[in-house]
Amino acid sequence: MTDISPPLPPRTFLETSRKDGWWVGPGLTGLGLLAFVVYTTWAGLVGTNYKWGPYLSPLYSPEFNFSWWHFSPAILVLWAPGGFRLTCYYYRKAYYRAFFLTPPACAVAARPQNYRGERALLLFQNLHRFFLYLALIFVVILAWDAIVSFDWDGRFGMGVGSIVLTLNALFIAVFTFGCNSLRHVVGGNVDCFSCSAANRARHKVWKFVSLFNAHHMPWAWISLFWVGFADLYVRLVAMGVITDLRIF
Ligand code: FES
Repeated sequence: MTDISPPLPPRTFLETSRKDGWWVGPGLTGLGLLAFVVYTTWAGLVGTNYKWGPYLSPLYSPEFNFSWWHFSPAILVLWAPGGFRLTCYYYRKAYYRAFFLTPPACAVAARPQNYRGERALLLFQNLHRFFLYLALIFVVILAWDAIVSFDWDGRFGMGVGSIVLTLNALFIAVFTFGCNSLRHVVGGNVDCFSCSAANRARHKVWKFVSLFNAHHMPWAWISLFWVGFADLYVRLVAMGVITDLRIF
């Protein structure tokens, strides 16, 4: 039967039937992301107090020391993990809602816009797969930094900073292993998982990655907070504002 009902009138911006506090989620998301971007932009540009003893701030890792580079070495680093997060499927949802209001929440009318699909600037989002490959390298680099943080002039030791940097490497790894693109790399493009030994092995890896993927949003926030905190910790110790407690 042909549907002869008239088309729905265009809804006005922010119009909704929702009675709950739908704006709390995108509001807090926007504040959290803004705080992180402001802090890491400052910490990344300042170019000082980013290492102390065996500790190196994750914002400056790997550490580059080029004589021809006259700006903060973090600039040479941050574009890669920054691009990874910027193009992440979860963060896209978060900042589309919080900053661009397209729409701000489920069942709330979006800001008027001329959506043309993933073209122009949105084409950039398709680079996520390539940022993932870089992010996997960063997982190894940050794990190495965590190991080095236990090396006190050739002797094994542990300070609070060692724990901070180890947790940072762990949280970044869990966030990265839950990436939707990684899930597709290991388990995508397969019609039959049980048809060959190789595909059965891929299925196992895919199930493993899916464990992390199921909680991608909380890990996005935990790892985001912790990477900023790890920088702040190393920075405050390097500045002499706090003293790193040596556990043994
Ligand atoms: Fe979030 Fe890939 S989808 S890191």
